[in-house]
Amino acid sequence: MKITVVSGNDRLAEAMRLVLEKAPLRVEPENVRVTAFSDWVSQILGNPKGSPREARAAGNSGEAGPSAPEIPDLIILDGAALHSGAAFDDVARLSQHLPFVTIFLLAEDRQASLLLDAMRAGIREVLSIPLIPEEVLSAIARAGSRIPNVDAGGRKGKILGFVACKGGSGATFLAANIGYALAAEHDKRVLLIDLDLQYGDASFFFLSDRNVSGSVAEVVRQAERMDATLLAASCSRILPNYSLLPAPEDPEEAAAIRPDQIERLLALAAANYDYVLFDIDRSIDAVSLSALDQADAIFPIMQSMVPDMRDAGTMLRTFKQLGYSESKLHFIVNRSDKKEDAPLKPIEKGLGIDFYKTIPNDYLNASASVNQGMSIVKLAPASPVSRAVRDIADDLVGVVADQDHWFRRLLRRA
Ligand SMILES: Nc1ncnc2c1ncn2[C@@H]1O[C@H](COP(=O)(O)OP(=O)(O)O)[C@@H](O)[C@H]1O
Ligand SMILES: [Mg+2]
Repeated sequence: MKITVVSGNDRLAEAMRLVLEKAPLRVEPENVRVTAFSDWVSQILGNPKGSPREARAAGNSGEAGPSAPEIPDLIILDGAALHSGAAFDDVARLSQHLPFVTIFLLAEDRQASLLLDAMRAGIREVLSIPLIPEEVLSAIARAGSRIPNVDAGGRKGKILGFVACKGGSGATFLAANIGYALAAEHDKRVLLIDLDLQYGDASFFFLSDRNVSGSVAEVVRQAERMDATLLAASCSRILPNYSLLPAPEDPEEAAAIRPDQIERLLALAAANYDYVLFDIDRSIDAVSLSALDQADAIFPIMQSMVPDMRDAGTMLRTFKQLGYSESKLHFIVNRSDKKEDAPLKPIEKGLGIDFYKTIPNDYLNASASVNQGMSIVKLAPASPVSRAVRDIADDLVGVVADQDHWFRRLLRRA
């Protein structure tokens, strides 16, 4: 695990070095770098004033060039370097550029306003000065469990594919909101990739046109430079730990995307995020096949009406012909209405599968969520749809280990 300590204070850095030597994770002492904040941040960001987009247009992706410092797994910032609001803006830009990097802040005085600024800037933990070794080490252990390739076996994020058995079933809506629940409630690093390359609309679920930047085409086009920094810089932010890579706007760009490019994109994404969700059109071609092949789980979304059932049957047959095991397929019945719909048991029997989950219909809250560009989980937490979405996120995460986030603890105390 590579750690960079950013501090102008040699004594503090030395104290940190001593604490880090006790870390159970392999922390190579030479990876503990001590450096002043402003020099370091401008080296990392390349172009301190511009947006990631402008930086790229100027030929600087913000990635490590010959003179740029190495990107660590964990950055420990000395709060003394961050007196101005502008410095917090820099930290926010840093965490936006490098969502896969964990940032800690060291602070003598942990007032609520500082903690709020820290949280907004994407800082994961605020640690005390003077250093408390146990506090530092347990925070590092938590960070270590989030970093790919640090724990045994090389961690890889889960790739989850969402596909509608019939248009309008809610595949995009569910992918976007399950992604939101994984990020907001489980503190996971989540990436939603809109692979509905021609008609992708995932970005409308969260962002206005103005906020959308980058696209799948933009990332894969720069194959030789395709790395975590480029990927992060091409995404739009929904939450500090939830990013969206939109579909290309231009149909020609969409048509030029090749299956091998999608394969590389997903592999890169899985190495850098805990969960990679993609939304894809149901018509299967070489490109969508390469994504579906790589998925750890596929969620076909259907409604319980006759035409949907027929299409679900066709989709199931197609997936079986492709050699996908039933355990990879998780059919979800969306917009279910117990009073109006046909009972589900006979449908399951007819298809020869068990449904993974059933999501109730809640037209008002779902429409409000889409119209306001806000996740239903946030907008209407008590909606039965939000409950069902949270239930799926809980199930995907399994044991809820990382619930006790420092900011939630703070709020509880306040
Ligand atoms: N459980 C639900 N209850 C009510 N409306 C829903 C539900 N799920 C999705 N919707 C609505 O269905 C619309 C279409 O969903 P969308 O995800 O775009 O479909 P798809 O991607 O499958 O074509 C959304 O705008 C949303 O308002
Ligand atoms: Mg869709």
